[in-house]
Amino acid sequence: MLKKDLVSIRDLNVRDLGGIFTLAGKVKKQPHKFNQALKGKTLALVFEKPSNRTQVSFQVGMYQLGGNSIYLGPEGLGLGVRESTKDAAKTLSRYVDGIVLRTFSHKTILEMAGSASVPLINGLSDLLHPCQIISDLFTIKEKFGKFKRITLVYVGDGNNICHSLLYGCSKVGLNLNIATPRIYSPSPGILQESKSFAKKSKTNLVLFEEACDAVKGADIVYTDVWTSMGREKEAAQRKRYFKNFQLNKKLLSFAKRKCLIMHCLPAHHGEEITDGVMESPNSIVFDQAENRLHVQKAILMQLLLKVKSERLKA
Ligand code: CP
Ligand code: NVA
Repeated sequence: MLKKDLVSIRDLNVRDLGGIFTLAGKVKKQPHKFNQALKGKTLALVFEKPSNRTQVSFQVGMYQLGGNSIYLGPEGLGLGVRESTKDAAKTLSRYVDGIVLRTFSHKTILEMAGSASVPLINGLSDLLHPCQIISDLFTIKEKFGKFKRITLVYVGDGNNICHSLLYGCSKVGLNLNIATPRIYSPSPGILQESKSFAKKSKTNLVLFEEACDAVKGADIVYTDVWTSMGREKEAAQRKRYFKNFQLNKKLLSFAKRKCLIMHCLPAHHGEEITDGVMESPNSIVFDQAENRLHVQKAILMQLLLKVKSERLKA
């Protein structure tokens, strides 16, 4: 059973994830069966950063479930400037049935979740991107039918995607290799926690500093941008550090011939991934993008259909 909020995969167990995958599979197969599931419900999307997939899939998802959504972009609430995050959360909780927040500091996500009496969904923070990785795990299950004895190799920045992959793979039992330049390695705290989850699920979790060593034996190679939203000033330095971490033909010659290619998107073609790799028959990046819709519909139903007994306490 999911908790009130979806802040991090760290807070979910294998059964929670399995429940989301099962429901998402049903929604994907027979979407019309769920077209009144969230009738009368409204979702607020509070986005302090740009978005295509997250915003559009949540808004279309709400519409397809018979509900409504409101987009509040960077010019909207002015969290912490126009009013405190706490007050904004309490006010929104009087109007809507759920909130998706995309922001910079992960503290803002925690603050909003702590003050809102309706479910808060983390739509990306500098630290984590749980919706993306839950959906990616669903995609992997679709492609391989299992997680056990599959190895995913993440090549690139130790960022929000990498952190959520650490939690997600270690929970479901997907072997994970991570290759980053040393100065861009993932958070030691998240790594340590994920190692304990991996021990429990009997999964390998290994860090590398050379991408070609990491991709040996890979079933899946996953990458993300070298410069995440909000870090644009570091772009030039990052390009220098990441130059040997590009997903290209040469790097993939070290992986299994049929290994699948994943990217959360948006992609910077010619930087972290070449056009050839992105457009190769093994690339499943647009299947990933599509599944954001089906998986988030499942998440919305699970969270928004819970009884809101706490709601008016705010
Ligand atoms: N992958 C992802 O979250 O894409 P957007 O930033 O476009 O939402
Ligand atoms: N790491 C990227 C992910 C975008 C979906 C960013 O935070 O910009």
